[in-house]
Amino acid sequence: MIKVGLILGIAGACRTDELVNLTVDDIEDVGSSLIVKITNNKTKIPRIFVVTDVGNMLELFQKYLSLRPPHVKHKRLFLYYKAGKCSSQPVGKNTMGKIPSVVASYLKLPDVACYTGHCLRRSSATLLADAGVDITTIKRHAGWKSTTVAEGYVENSIVNKTKIANQVLVGTTTSAITKNCKCKRK
Ligand SMILES: *[C@@H]1O[C@H](CO)[C@@H](O)[C@H](O)[C@H]1NC(C)=O
Ligand SMILES: *[C@@H]1O[C@H](CO)[C@@H](O)[C@H](O)[C@H]1NC(C)=O
Repeated sequence: MIKVGLILGIAGACRTDELVNLTVDDIEDVGSSLIVKITNNKTKIPRIFVVTDVGNMLELFQKYLSLRPPHVKHKRLFLYYKAGKCSSQPVGKNTMGKIPSVVASYLKLPDVACYTGHCLRRSSATLLADAGVDITTIKRHAGWKSTTVAEGYVENSIVNKTKIANQVLVGTTTSAITKNCKCKRK
């Protein structure tokens, strides 16, 4: 359950609520990939994302789906998983919101409690910004109405900062420094 939540959350920059509300009808398995439709009641901005088969992610999804008990009455995708089985109980907001901290503790990262439910969405945008994509793409991917939030990800991207650092430091020659020195040499 946590792995599937992580995959969908990162692939689609999903909010905790959006993952909680995801239904089996929102996901189309086209064999080589999954097509996921997010219909957010609050923002009213629907979006679609694709999950491609990187590192057996599709197999993992299909395995999870195959564990769905046949008698489940509701359509919510995420069901509690324990000891190789899924129950019919849908995963709630609290459990879903803990996925990043569970992952962080698995990775033995410090400050595990700081990894809130929003980290999946943030990581998704950060990964895109670091890959050097433009602001419009990030904005569309996350379904942000304003450009401001998307801009923050590009501006704060470490890859971007590193590019800038390289440009600054490449120019660090003695003449570049002395040129800006206001003191007159005697
Ligand atoms: C998720 O579903 C609940 C209950 O139907 C609803 O109140 C909430 O707005 C939904 N959240 C999103 C992000 O669509
Ligand atoms: C880096 O961030 C600046 C804004 O600080 C932006 O104008 C520029 O397009 C970004 N560069 C890349 C490669 O994303």
